[in-house]
Amino acid sequence: MDKFRIEGGRRLEGTLRISGAKNAALPELAACLLTNEVVELRNLPRVRDIQTMARLLGHMSVGVEGPEGEGAEARVRLRAETISHAEAPYDLVKTMRASVLVLGPLVGRTGYARVSMPGGCAIGARPIDLHLKALERLGAEITTEHGYVEAKAKRLRGARLVFDRITVTGTENVMMAATLAEGETVLENVAREPEVSDLAQLLVAMGARIEGAGTSTIRIEGVASLHGAKHEVIADRIATGTFLAAGAITGGDLLLEGARGEHLDAVVDKLAECGVTVTKEQEGLRVRGGGRLRGADVTTEEYPGFPTDMQAQYMALVTQAAGTSIVTETIFENRFLHASELVRMGADIAIRGNQAIVRGPTPLSGAAVIASDLRASASLVIAGLAAQGTTIVDRVYHIDRGYERIEEKLRALGGRIERISG
Ligand code: EPU
Repeated sequence: MDKFRIEGGRRLEGTLRISGAKNAALPELAACLLTNEVVELRNLPRVRDIQTMARLLGHMSVGVEGPEGEGAEARVRLRAETISHAEAPYDLVKTMRASVLVLGPLVGRTGYARVSMPGGCAIGARPIDLHLKALERLGAEITTEHGYVEAKAKRLRGARLVFDRITVTGTENVMMAATLAEGETVLENVAREPEVSDLAQLLVAMGARIEGAGTSTIRIEGVASLHGAKHEVIADRIATGTFLAAGAITGGDLLLEGARGEHLDAVVDKLAECGVTVTKEQEGLRVRGGGRLRGADVTTEEYPGFPTDMQAQYMALVTQAAGTSIVTETIFENRFLHASELVRMGADIAIRGNQAIVRGPTPLSGAAVIASDLRASASLVIAGLAAQGTTIVDRVYHIDRGYERIEEKLRALGGRIERISG
């Protein structure tokens, strides 16, 4: 298992291009199952989860060319001319929960899907009951047996439904399924994340009739078939936020090219409250640290609120801010695993239920720490960049799932970080 060795205390400076969003690209790859024509995605991030999804599609006999090329040119061409087995096996689902995103498109197009039921993960139980309940409302017959969900339908029928709770991949799964259903589907209390809107944009380019993506009600008029399309994946707002935090904690000056400021208002506002200057430039976002950091409370919420996927990185930042910051996590029940590792590096953090009380600033000192999930690992890397001495972050496979060669990017900005292959 690879590790990172980080020598902290270096200011980050320079320009970095933000890659495509993993959480937009994953459902967009799955969307290729809705048509027998070619879907081409550009600006695909070169991260492990994307490879896993491509493998899963290959397993179903989807023709996958690529990913090839770099940066904005990185692209993949997918063609699901026929689907040999509409199944997501346990081995792939257990490594990536987002595999469940094939369920909606498969049952929509072929009337059948068999998907291994994802288990709990480090950050919470993460059930998929709302995906299943919604597909049932569209007429799918759902059974669960031997750890697999089976969904069957001659053809899905449009329906009106209200999600009990906002779910991002649930919204995406059901929106994809409904594109090929008979008649109109109205989904209420849906996720408004930019990744949902980006997926809707691809589906519309494929001939789907969708309105309201980005609001809490989405209307879909089912069509008989979808066709091929080309689409550019939106910039990753969470990678952007992660580099904003890294720039801020090192007192640096970074220009994040291609970053979409309008997707990050809650993060930028919170950083401003902490005394970090983030400005919208023509090329993207610029962060300038160096002033005295002030603590500020934050509560994670669905979009457009402060993202749970930025909570861990924010916590690392406010360990260096003056005063008490109360970080409240409302989306996942166990997303504070990074806190005890940050404490090992010198942070003062007390956990009370779904709140972390961070008192700062406390000097951080390099230590050996273990990454427990994707964003927790990013938080430890950020802390390592600010710490005195050497930090070793173990299990960086978590970070490789969602960040594109983060150590090379940080090195290009002046960070001292290297991968130790193990
Ligand atoms: N939930 C249910 N039942 C369901 C679905 C969700 O109870 O059927 C609960 C979850 O347990 C959770 C809450 O609803 O407590 C919200 O979960 P959601 O379904 O929105 O999460 P997700 O779709 O599984 C996506 C991202 C996550 C991100 C969350 C929240 C992808 C591939 N994943 O997950 O990204 O944290 O939305 O914004 O889009 C990450 O990138 O590090 C990551 C974990």
